[in-house]
Amino acid sequence: MTRQQFVKLLLKRAKGKPGTRGAAFAPANIALCKYWGKRDPDLNLPVNSSLSISLGKLGTHTAVKFAKTADRIFLNGKPAPADFAARISNYLDLFRADGQFFEVRTKNNIPTAAGLASSASGFAALVKALDQLFGWGFNSRELSMLARLGSGSATRSLYDGFAVWHAGVRADGMDSYAERLGSTWPALRIGILEVSKARKKTGSTSGMNRTVETSELYESWPAQAECDFDELRTAIAAQDFPMLGKTAENNALAMHATMLAAWPPLCYWKPQTVALMQKVWQARENGLELYFTIDAGPNLKLLFLNENQAAVKALFPNVQIVSPFQNPKA
Ligand code: PMV
Repeated sequence: MTRQQFVKLLLKRAKGKPGTRGAAFAPANIALCKYWGKRDPDLNLPVNSSLSISLGKLGTHTAVKFAKTADRIFLNGKPAPADFAARISNYLDLFRADGQFFEVRTKNNIPTAAGLASSASGFAALVKALDQLFGWGFNSRELSMLARLGSGSATRSLYDGFAVWHAGVRADGMDSYAERLGSTWPALRIGILEVSKARKKTGSTSGMNRTVETSELYESWPAQAECDFDELRTAIAAQDFPMLGKTAENNALAMHATMLAAWPPLCYWKPQTVALMQKVWQARENGLELYFTIDAGPNLKLLFLNENQAAVKALFPNVQIVSPFQNPKA
């Protein structure tokens, strides 16, 4: 099945009438159990299930309406760069009728300095806005499957708090959707440590494809991810922070290990990334309950509890702290 066929099938469930505009917000998210590897690149079906935490009010606001002669794509108030606009227009091709165009205005409130990927919140907000524009009346699960076609991690950005994206087993991808985990954890904090804002040379799709195709270590990834996914769910249910931190950090490092064993080798880290990891390990040896995770880039995301906020700030003065369970909005 192609992505176009998938969309056609899903749109058969649409109920309402088109409106004149749509506007929505979706939060950014950080995976604690990473999505790494596609079992179907066109449908964006993952090899393994993943689990994330959304960043509350940090994310993307998107408004969409019909346009007359061509797509008009704006990012943070200005015409979007060509590659960004092309990615959105390609995605809109999945939904447009002949001769139909869109105006999309998208704004990220994630400080650009945070070095956080915005494609997850971006595609989730766009899908929610399109749902209003077209009047589909889809539920979050259906919307998560449409967001999945824009970017895998966007599947999880339909929700506040903890979200799981079930890998699913079906070839048509109808069981590969995200849902919210009920638990909240108000004391949980995420600290963003920016190492570099530079655009990465290898995007996540080509990075994961190269890893799946060439890395011997990738063989062990699906089983580890499955195990970590279960451990994290247990840790969240029991509010067991050391278990959550340890599992998330180990999961990220295992993912990066699969990349190092790819050919050509893939390393998203900078020397400062490694220095910061070592600083976290030293702090932990000194008794601080502090862990990190790293996505396909050089920046660290620290995990800690509110009670250790002052200690973390003292060690990392530039840390940007996010409280995922305060002022949720989505
Ligand atoms: O959604 P993508 O295609 O940008 O891939 C995301 C990959 C990771 O950020 C490394 C892991 C994840 O689950 O978010």
